[in-house]
Order: sequence, then C-alpha cells, then structure tokens
Amino acid sequence: MCGIFGYINYLVERDRQFIIDTLLNGLSRLEYRGYDSAGMAVDGDKKNEVQAFKEVGKVAKLRELIAESKPDMTKSFESHAGISHTRWATHGTPTRQNCHPHRSDANWEFAVVHNGIITNYKELKALLESKGFRFETETDTECIAKLAKYLYDQHPDIEFTVLAKAVIKELEGAFGLLLKVPPLVIGVRTSKKMKVDFVDVEYSEEGALPAEQASQNAAIKKSSASLLAPPDKSLLHRSQSRAFLSDDGIPQPAEFFLSSDPSAIVEHTKKVLYLEDDDIAHIHEGQLNIHRLTKDDGTSNVRTIQTIELELQEIMKGKFDHFMQKEIFEQPESVVNTMRGRLDAVNKKVTLGGLRQYISTIRRCRRIIFIACGTSYHSCMAVRGVFEELTEIPIAVELASDFLDRQAPVFRDDTCVFVSQSGETADSLMALRYCLERGALTVGVVNVVGSSISLLTHCGVHINAGPEIGVASTKAYTSQFVAMVMFALSLSEDRASKAKRREEIMEGLAKISEQFREILKLNESIKDMCAKFFKDQKSLLLLGRGAQFPTALEGALKIKEISYLHCEAVMSGELKHGVLALVDENLPIIMILTRDNLFTKSLNAYQQVIARGGRPIVICNPEDPEFSSAQTEKIAVPKTVDCLQGLLNVIPLQLVSYWLAVGEGLNVDFPRNLAKSVTVE
Ligand code: UD1
Ligand code: BG6
Repeated sequence: MCGIFGYINYLVERDRQFIIDTLLNGLSRLEYRGYDSAGMAVDGDKKNEVQAFKEVGKVAKLRELIAESKPDMTKSFESHAGISHTRWATHGTPTRQNCHPHRSDANWEFAVVHNGIITNYKELKALLESKGFRFETETDTECIAKLAKYLYDQHPDIEFTVLAKAVIKELEGAFGLLLKVPPLVIGVRTSKKMKVDFVDVEYSEEGALPAEQASQNAAIKKSSASLLAPPDKSLLHRSQSRAFLSDDGIPQPAEFFLSSDPSAIVEHTKKVLYLEDDDIAHIHEGQLNIHRLTKDDGTSNVRTIQTIELELQEIMKGKFDHFMQKEIFEQPESVVNTMRGRLDAVNKKVTLGGLRQYISTIRRCRRIIFIACGTSYHSCMAVRGVFEELTEIPIAVELASDFLDRQAPVFRDDTCVFVSQSGETADSLMALRYCLERGALTVGVVNVVGSSISLLTHCGVHINAGPEIGVASTKAYTSQFVAMVMFALSLSEDRASKAKRREEIMEGLAKISEQFREILKLNESIKDMCAKFFKDQKSLLLLGRGAQFPTALEGALKIKEISYLHCEAVMSGELKHGVLALVDENLPIIMILTRDNLFTKSLNAYQQVIARGGRPIVICNPEDPEFSSAQTEKIAVPKTVDCLQGLLNVIPLQLVSYWLAVGEGLNVDFPRNLAKSVTVE
C-alpha cells in the first residue's frame, strides 16, 4: 500500500543532501508495504520554486534519478518542508506521471501526496475540468491539489488551515461518501525538552460534518510558507501548541517527521503523536496545530505525544510475527476491499467496472478457460462450479505450464481468464501471449495494478487485496475467489432463472468478512492442535470433495510450501481407489466435511477412514450432529452458501500451515527454494 513520509525542519539548518537523504531513507522504511513507484517534492533553488522527482520502481531507482539530475546538494535551508511517497497503483498504471506528489499547476503551488482513495474524484475532476483545469495524471489524488488551487484562487486571502478544511470537506462531503485513509503519525524532535507532552486540538466554528463521513488526514504542502496572504498570527496560533514553545514563549528549533507509518520515524525520534480520523495537522513556523471540523464528536481535546518503545521490525509487521500471519489476519478487510464499490448487497447488484464493456461478448463465448499457476490455479478450480452453474458456459481450468506444453487448441470465440496475484508469473504470461496470438478474448484477474498480465489482457478485474509479501499466498486466494464469484454473478445478470440463486450468493458475500473474523478466533486452538497432532509427522492427508477439493489442494500447498511437511490432497471420492491403503491409526488426516449437496458422499469417505482406525480432524459446521462425539477433533466454521464455503474453510488450513511452520522454527515468509513471483519458465 502507499506510504507517506514528510520532513520539516524549522530553525534547524539542513542542506538539500540531508533533506533528500532523510526523505529517501523514510521511503526505504516503507518499502515493506509494497509499492511500484516513488516520488518526492522539495524546495527549489529560487524562492517559491519546487523540485519534484518521480520514478517507477524501487526507492533505489529514485535515488539514482536524483543523482543523475544533479541538484545542488549543498544548498542550505533554515526552514524547509519536504514530502515523499511510495505508490501502490490503484488509479492508473505505475508511471512517472502517475507517481506522487501531484501538483495544482505547473508552478507546484500546491503539492500533495496521499494514501487511500478519493471516491468522488471523477465528479471533482469533471467539475475542475469545467473550470479550466487540465489534469495530467490518471490518479484520484491529483484532484486534491487542483481543488486546493481552485479554492485558493477564489479566496486568495484564505488562511491555509481554512483552505485545507474546505478542500477536505469537498472530498468527503459533496456526495456523502465515506473516505477512509490510513492514519498519519507525526514524529517530533527538539533540542530542548518539550514544555508539555500534548498538542491541543482546535475546532472549526463552521458547520459540522455528518458523523458518517469519516477519516481524512491529508499531508498538504504549500510550496512556500509565504504564498498564502501573510497570516494573521493571532488567529493562526489560537490553539498554541505549547509543546514547542520555550519558557519565554518563543518557538524553538524543531524537526517534524510525518508518515503513514511509525517505522519510517523511529530512527529519527521516538516522540510521536497519532492523528485521529478527521484531524488536520498544520505545521507552520515550528508550530504544530491540530484542527478539526467539528467539536462534538467525542474525541479528546488533546493529542498526546507518546514515546514509542517498539523496534522497527515489530512496527512493520504490526502485532504480528510474520507477514504471512498479518496477511491471514487481514482477510476480513481485504475481501471487503475486493468488493468495495462493486457489490451492492442491498440492491443485489454487482458491477465490475473493468469488465462492463466486455460482459455481453463473454456471455456469447463458446467456453471460458481459466489459466493460472499455484494458489491462483486453486482459486480457479474453487470457482469452476459456480461459473458452470450460473453461466452454463463450458469451463476449463488449466495449469499454465501444462496448457502450453500441450499447445492446447484455443479459438477466437474462447474467453481466456488469467488469474495471478503478481501478474508477472512467466508461465501464465506466456500462456496469455499464446492466447492473444490465437485471437481469443483475454481477461485478467490480477492483484498488482500495472503488472504485465494486467496490461496485456483486453480487460479484467483488479482484486485490490493490497500488497502480499509472504511467499505463501493467503489473502490473494480469498480475494481472487471473491472477484471471480462476482465475475460469474455479472455474467448471469441477464438470466431470470438464476435470480434467486444470485441473490443468495450476494447475501453470502456480504457476510463473508464477519465470518472470517469468527474463524480467526480459532487461531489459538488451531495452534494447539498443530502441536498436538502434527508435530514430527512425516506426512499429512487432506480430504475434500466437490468444491472442497480445491480447498484441500490449496491447504496442502500451503502446508508443503512453508512447513516442508509432505501433504497430499485427495478428492475423497477417489480415496477408495488407492489412497485408502495409506490410512491407519497413525496417519494424520484432515477432512473437510461442511454441509453441502455432496455431504452424504463425503461422509462415506469419513466412515471408510474411521473403519481403518483413522482419527481424522474434521472441518465442519458448528454443532453438526454427525460429529457430536467428544472424541472427534473438530474445527467448526460458520455456514455460508455452498459455493462460498471454500472461502471460509481455507482459513483454518492457512492457520494450520502457519503454525506448523512456526512450530518447526522455519522461515515462514521466505520458504526455501521458493519465490513470490516466478518470472522464469
Ligand atoms: C477503477 C479504478 C479504481 C476506482 C474505480 C472507480 C484503477 C486501476 N482502478 O476500478 O481505483 O475506485 O475505477 O470507478 O484505476 N484490467 C485489465 N486486466 C486486468 C485487470 C484490469 O485489462 O488484469 C483493466 C480493466 O478492464 C479496467 C482497468 O484495468 O479497464 C481497471 O480495472 P479495475 O481496477 O478492476 O477497475 P474498476 O473496478 O472499475
Ligand atoms: C509462485 C508462488 O510459485 O507463483 C506461489 O510461490 C503462487 O505462491 C504462484 O501461487 C503463482 O503466482 P501468481 O503471482 O501468478 O499468482
């Protein structure tokens, strides 16, 4: 996800080298969050001039670009504000142009870096364009800078904080939309001890925002402190941030570090304060003032300056020990992000913007071929049933490498869907080129915006799960699953006979996030179960049937990938045709036995295992009478619509694989021999 880092020095002399290095180092600390491009804006050589540097790729490439541009690194600034950003593309591909900071005009009167999403940016853009603004990028962010300029030009005497409030009000208020933006943290460093360890909050006397309009923290930098009309200091310093005054009331030298993440700040200072939703921090002449639009919203009147005790590593992963664990626990949010703006559960409508123009063509195709590798292949298998049921179009699911090996026939009236977290997997990419050459319609289901698959396909869906860092894919799987179910729902929108079923599925999707939260509460019991049943085992069997066979495959892949324990997924209908020979009282077995139309058949496999002395651990729905015996080891997961049950069932298996690997002391995030993105054949 995007990261923000800003650095302000006041009465502390710093040269450009120091300022740029501080910004670049701050960005490096945010690298773990995942990003595809980076940029910064600092003051130029002349008054009111801004120098901006933007580059696609890593922070190291931005550093190279700056070195090549040869700015005068010795130029010194007594007071200066620099802003920087790492971007994870959501609106528009990762290009220099789309990189932050964004500007109001060619003079960079207002420069903005931003995290999150402005949902009404299209309307704002249309409005500003009608006022003569020319947009330079595909981002939502650019409208913030242009809006600030527009409002400022209307009221050139406006105080900066009043302007910031006016901008933010438009962003949120005009359409009553909900904006959620990651919190900002501000680090402060002063040479003398601070007088008090809090900053007072100043409230606006203007109309209050409706309570449901939430969360906007903007880091807006004006290119020069003097550009706005000279401020009326009695007004500006109304709230007196006493923390930064010396005994005689004169502001003391101070440096401010602003970031979306404390990990970028701890190396400079351990003194931080966290902004709350709707807070606007205004830093001017060494003073930090916090403003709010409304007073009676239950928030405190002060923001405490806290001392962070955490080490860098801990902060980056939050409260989690590994990225994989963090990503498993992020799933209640990541699936919501996949559905955001696309599933309208109240009016029972699904809109996938990226497919809209192609849906009717896809409806007429002669078959849909899903092509992917690894986990992404499993998510395709998991949704095959619901595609067949809702669309009645023949569906094939292919491993990209095997598909290419066979040089499988593909025709112009085929639709080929490429599913990939990274969008760069070589096998999938080659299969995509192969299908393009044969004239098929190609669709991407991809996490990384601007990735090769996303760019080369005719159309597609970004799953919007956010960056996935752990090599073992977790949240991408559940988000791919949800995105593809929405795809099937879109395709079947014109089928009256499917209306009831579609509604049922949409209702199920609306509840998924909450059910994820329920399942994640099983974390501790699953950890204990792993220690009790799977420690020092040589092999593990996972059984599932129908839509739960792909769940078993995905669970087995997770276990193999990170715990190096041999684990085999078997379609339980096949058990009696061979694998049953392995079963005895010693072989650990997990069986997926949630209730669906195949439950009776699945139960047969269960009986076969029990009859051989096996003692399987059962993933079932709560209080299922079949498994009421106290002797049966159970992992109870809530019930949902049959075609979505795999979304829930996979989570305990992700946790099993995680705890198995932790139990063995293995490198969970970077397992041996594996890479997150395999860009070779
Ligand atoms: C788009 C915006 C999203 C915004 C929404 C508001 C982007 C990347 N997304 O989302 O931030 O909130 O509009 O209306 O700007 N595509 C491919 N192949 C793929 C994936 C996507 O060709 O593998 C294409 C799609 O066909 C589409 C574009 O990329 O043209 C963006 O796709 P997606 O992000 O899924 O579209 P929206 O959900 O409409
Ligand atoms: C690699 C990863 O093999 O690629 C797997 O280690 C992943 O976790 C597979 O499932 C496919 O990757 P992608 O990015 O195409 O989904």
